[in-house]
Amino acid sequence: MAYFIPKEYIDIDFKTLADKISAIKKRLNNNLLILGHHYQKDEVLQFCDKRGDSFALAKEAAGTSAGMIVFCGVHFMAETADIVSRDDQKVFIPDPTAGCFLADCANIQDIEKVWAKLTALTDTKIIPVTYVNSSAHLKAFTGKHGGLVCTSSNAEKALKKARQWGDKVFFFPDQHLGRNTAVKMDIPLARIKLWDPKQGLSIQEIEEAEIILWNGYCNVHQEFSSNYVDYLRNTYEGIKIIAHPECSYNVCQKSDFTGSTKEIIDMIEASPSGTIWGVGTEKHLVNRLQKEHKDKEIYFLQDYEPQCISMSQITENHLLYQLDQLSLGHEINRVMVEKETAADAKLALERMLKL
Ligand code: 13P
Ligand code: SF4
Repeated sequence: MAYFIPKEYIDIDFKTLADKISAIKKRLNNNLLILGHHYQKDEVLQFCDKRGDSFALAKEAAGTSAGMIVFCGVHFMAETADIVSRDDQKVFIPDPTAGCFLADCANIQDIEKVWAKLTALTDTKIIPVTYVNSSAHLKAFTGKHGGLVCTSSNAEKALKKARQWGDKVFFFPDQHLGRNTAVKMDIPLARIKLWDPKQGLSIQEIEEAEIILWNGYCNVHQEFSSNYVDYLRNTYEGIKIIAHPECSYNVCQKSDFTGSTKEIIDMIEASPSGTIWGVGTEKHLVNRLQKEHKDKEIYFLQDYEPQCISMSQITENHLLYQLDQLSLGHEINRVMVEKETAADAKLALERMLKL
């Protein structure tokens, strides 16, 4: 889906655009906070007051006193910001059609159906854990059923907490983050069960499971391949491999490290000059690392550069249009989670923020 903005915002030269954005930011001053995810391109990030991974940006939204938060990220991130911010704060996204393939892998109807089956087939206590890359409805479901949200930077802590609260975990929508984290916690693969949407799981399989995974995945991170990791290791002696945990089990198993976008940045920044890296995450972030660390060699875990097209829907032109409209008092592209859903989702998010 595409979100069209007036032609004059597209045909503008970058210098004029930058001057206009700076002037609006100055005028709105403390009442405006622009947040940007690491997958945004530099032309957008340079105007953001804060950049970060999903967790850091959720915390920024929860802690700011600004009345308006403009989120340069994807829709679930803006929803999360709306849920954790105060009622009198307003959240906007410069392109409301910027979704997330992974978040769309599970909807509330599917999850409720599976939950009904699981809870009918076992007497053990199941705790739902939802990856932050999910709709507000899934977060609300999780809050209502005593579970919590996690991000890629705190998934292990969240799973540990959920296992203290119950006997089994139902993890959605990302099977890879769920599996990779469970394996890190020494849960045997045989006790990690994938819910098959056609056949479900047998009573025996449910009894054996310590964690039950929804079958979602990110279409960007699934592009990285373990064969390519082998190729890099054979080609570049001493190469270190770091992958985002949305990558497949095989890729993460062959990596030296896994981590959130921020953890990837921090690790590469802290490494000595001359280090060779293979990185499994999105194009804009890896390109930025390549540009900022010319003293290190940085390669993708693939022979092309997988890009998140949803993140790329937000351009500097969209940002200018958004800010211009806000400065005129036109509250376009507001992201508002309905009250009851927000209250339940907030429970699950607050449990995460307390970890
Ligand atoms: P991070 O929380 O690591 O920033 O990841 C968000 C995301 O969407 C990765 O694809
Ligand atoms: Fe969603 Fe994947 Fe894009 Fe991250 S990279 S926002 S998980 S589609």
